[in-house]
Amino acid sequence: MLNARQSPIEDKELQDYLTHKPLNLRATLDKADAYTGADYVIIATPTDYDVETNYFNTRSIESVVQDVLAINPSAVMVIKSTVPVGYTAKLLAGFSVLPPHPEGEGNSLPLGEGRGEGNPTPNILFSPEFLREGRALYDNLHPSRIVVGEVSARAQQFAALLQQGAVKQNIPVLLTDSTEAEAIKLFANTYLAMRVAFFNELDTYAASHGLDTRQIINGVSLDPRIGSHYNNPSFGFGGYCRPKTPNNCWPITTMCHKTSCAPLWTATPRAKTLLQTAFLPASPKWWVFTDW
Ligand SMILES: NC(=O)c1ccc[n+]([C@@H]2O[C@H](COP(=O)([O-])OP(=O)(O)OC[C@H]3O[C@@H](n4cnc5c(N)ncnc54)[C@H](O)[C@@H]3O)[C@@H](O)[C@H]2O)c1
Repeated sequence: MLNARQSPIEDKELQDYLTHKPLNLRATLDKADAYTGADYVIIATPTDYDVETNYFNTRSIESVVQDVLAINPSAVMVIKSTVPVGYTAKLLAGFSVLPPHPEGEGNSLPLGEGRGEGNPTPNILFSPEFLREGRALYDNLHPSRIVVGEVSARAQQFAALLQQGAVKQNIPVLLTDSTEAEAIKLFANTYLAMRVAFFNELDTYAASHGLDTRQIINGVSLDPRIGSHYNNPSFGFGGYCRPKTPNNCWPITTMCHKTSCAPLWTATPRAKTLLQTAFLPASPKWWVFTDW
């Protein structure tokens, strides 16, 4: 679809750019074709939260890393997938000793298990992706910030490439340790989930006491410390990254004095049930989901 200049996802700006801009872009499913000669390989493969193992499934990242190491080991790999805190450091320390996956898909071991000290693969950076679903291109053209998880010349160079591709000027750039960059992504997601859960709780309270939610939200949000953005009660937090992030709070909470994210899990389903009970009989034509 991309080679025919069709966006495979719903994204207004993306389709507009594909249709109207003279892009130097070619999509391929051939790994050798994609990786050969590349200076950078951006890895944005799925990292679904596996409820059975209670862990992110990072197998697809490791499979790409293995392929790049085989085809073009001098390429700098930039992980844009959402990963657990500490993942990149562990990958750098032990990737090369991983046993090959029986189906050739890469590693299936949770990090920390079965990994020894192997040859490091230093050509890997982590750079969190903050785009929202449906606004992928817009958010890359107008990034709130650029974070690269390494303090180095090549990290600076990668950040400069992202700046160069953006429309927005004066984008804040942070070069950090890889684990700090991973924590930035997960804490930001967790804050947004908490904010949705907070306004859901407010809404549940208002509805169960016969109060007007909007009046209360307006009054609360006029405090500049709170602000009037991102304050719609909804069915819960959504988007590709959300379901796994509060779960991933558990590793985070161990790191920061057991700050519990449990209210996220109780508040959001409660609001969802209330909204369903209140609105489903009315057969609405559309729903609004909160997403980021
Ligand atoms: N979608 C978002 O809004 C968003 C925002 C921020 C971060 N992220 C993170 O980005 C990552 C990808 O999310 P997505 O929504 O783009 O997922 P997606 O499932 O829509 O796309 C993933 C792509 O990876 C490809 N892929 C899968 N396994 C592969 C492999 N072994 N080798 C090569 N390619 C492979 C798939 O073909 C697909 O094109 C996830 O870690 C997600 O948490 C997503």
